[in-house]
Amino acid sequence: MPEAGRPLLEVRGLSRDFDVSRPWLNRVIEGASRQILRAVDGVSFTINRGETLSLVGESGCGKSTVARLICGLYTPTSGSILFDGKDLAKISDRTEMLAMRRRFQMIFQDPYASLNPRWRVEKIIAEPIRSHRLIDDERALHKRVGELLGDVGLSPLDGEKYPHEFSGGQRQRISIARALSSNPEFLVCDEPTSALDVSVQAQILNLMKDLQREHGLTYLFISHNLAVVAHISNRVGVMYLGRIVEIADTKTLFGRPLHPYTQMLASAIPDITMSGKSRTPVAGEVPNPLDPPRGCSFNPRCPHARDKCREVRPELLPFEGAQVACHGIHEGWIPIVPARAAA
Ligand SMILES: Nc1ncnc2c1ncn2[C@@H]1O[C@H](COP(=O)(O)OP(=O)(O)O)[C@@H](O)[C@H]1O
Ligand SMILES: [Mg+2]
Repeated sequence: MPEAGRPLLEVRGLSRDFDVSRPWLNRVIEGASRQILRAVDGVSFTINRGETLSLVGESGCGKSTVARLICGLYTPTSGSILFDGKDLAKISDRTEMLAMRRRFQMIFQDPYASLNPRWRVEKIIAEPIRSHRLIDDERALHKRVGELLGDVGLSPLDGEKYPHEFSGGQRQRISIARALSSNPEFLVCDEPTSALDVSVQAQILNLMKDLQREHGLTYLFISHNLAVVAHISNRVGVMYLGRIVEIADTKTLFGRPLHPYTQMLASAIPDITMSGKSRTPVAGEVPNPLDPPRGCSFNPRCPHARDKCREVRPELLPFEGAQVACHGIHEGWIPIVPARAAA
């Protein structure tokens, strides 16, 4: 039974390393050393029932790895993932794991790659229902798929068609219908609108918001674009090189971005009250994760960096209603600029 007040998802100190070494023989002959890439480095967060937490950050910062760890597509190198109070790594019983898996689903960035091109839409959407044996009767299953298509704004007749007969936005609607078909409580959405045109993005985001309200869903929403998450999130976590550098509720984060990286992302959002063009472009590049900088990993790009930032890695600590990992903010030598006043 779900317990009131307990987070639906709790991630504690989650890390994931990838061995990206050259093959063994090359290492022996060329004397190359083993190379370990830490894609996710001690990430912790909670998501309450019915809430949306977004993770934002530039490409390569570990967002998809977090998503895949939560969905069980990768195993953690360390740390734990608790769903409704249960540690997923401690479930050894296959039946219990299957029952757990039904409760959360994932939506991917590329709706074409994630839909089997040789299957009719009806079969695609019915697949999770079949594999979890939720409906046995074929007629009832057909009816249920029709309802799901209706829920995502498509026609029940679309079940007869193949994925290539749809536009990108419609294909993402099919992915959403499939994800919803097992009646999940929790959806991990990895850049669900990033491959779509801007106008279609808004429609899909609105659909996701409506579905959340109707079905009481909880979302982990992932995007490289801070502007996209503004209207869908209750809280936002900003990731940089495998770590969360700032996390706060949406209003706080947008109204008063603290970390210099968050400030940089926020100032790149096109300001609709002005000309609509980007204000300050995001400068610099993400460092090589195989050779991360000492101290704060953002220090090479940070306009405020001091010696301490190049030596000591800042911890994620509470700061006035947010959590932020930045020496300058905690020690008071980085100016805090309200986002809109900065325009
Ligand atoms: N299967 C993998 N093997 C090796 N390296 C990987 C693998 N998956 C991701 N990485 C690396 O981990 C880092 C984070 O990747 P990813 O989680 O995909 O970031 P994002 O989704 O934020 O773009 C990147 O440096 C990426 O190259
Ligand atoms: Mg990704």
